[in-house]
Amino acid sequence: MKSINHKRRSFSHFVLAFLLITGLAVFAFSCGEATAITENTDIVEGSEWFTSYCIICHGENADGKGNMASILNTLPLDLTSIAKRRNGVFPDSEIAKIIAGRENVPGHSTGEMPAWWETFKKSEGITDEKVLQEKIDNIVAYLKTIQK
Ligand code: HEC
Repeated sequence: MKSINHKRRSFSHFVLAFLLITGLAVFAFSCGEATAITENTDIVEGSEWFTSYCIICHGENADGKGNMASILNTLPLDLTSIAKRRNGVFPDSEIAKIIAGRENVPGHSTGEMPAWWETFKKSEGITDEKVLQEKIDNIVAYLKTIQK
């Protein structure tokens, strides 16, 4: 009798451990999923901002062929080849700086593209600089997804 009891107990320990591990696995999985959803929301917002502010010069397909392109002195670049033109590397922070237009980035800052930091401040009424940086980072995240 004693040995049966003992077996029962170890079986219930096994069940408990099993539930604990699957519980942890489900929890870990759902956390991962939540992060993925947040990232997607950022990219979607970035693409919406791109449509509102950028396609007039860079084009609907971000290929640099927007309606205003022909009247500019410098051609708006093809934004699907940002990485290709940099040996396959997509430099997040450099691209964010070019978009913000607050500091001189060699080869850019031609004055043809609006400095979006100040423009967004006014057009979107954003006063919190952290929020403003996040909005620009969202656009950068979106541009990253359309690299060819
Ligand atoms: C009035 C036209 C115009 C608009 C609107 C515009 N751009 Fe530009 N953009 C340019 C021109 C011209 C260049 C090339 C000169 C330069 O890099 O400064 C450029 C260059 C860039 C570059 C550099 C690409 C590279 O590979 O170096 C990025 C990134 C960029 N634009 C992003 C944006 C984003 C994001 C928006 C919308 C928020 C936007 N642009 C709106 C004209 C425009």
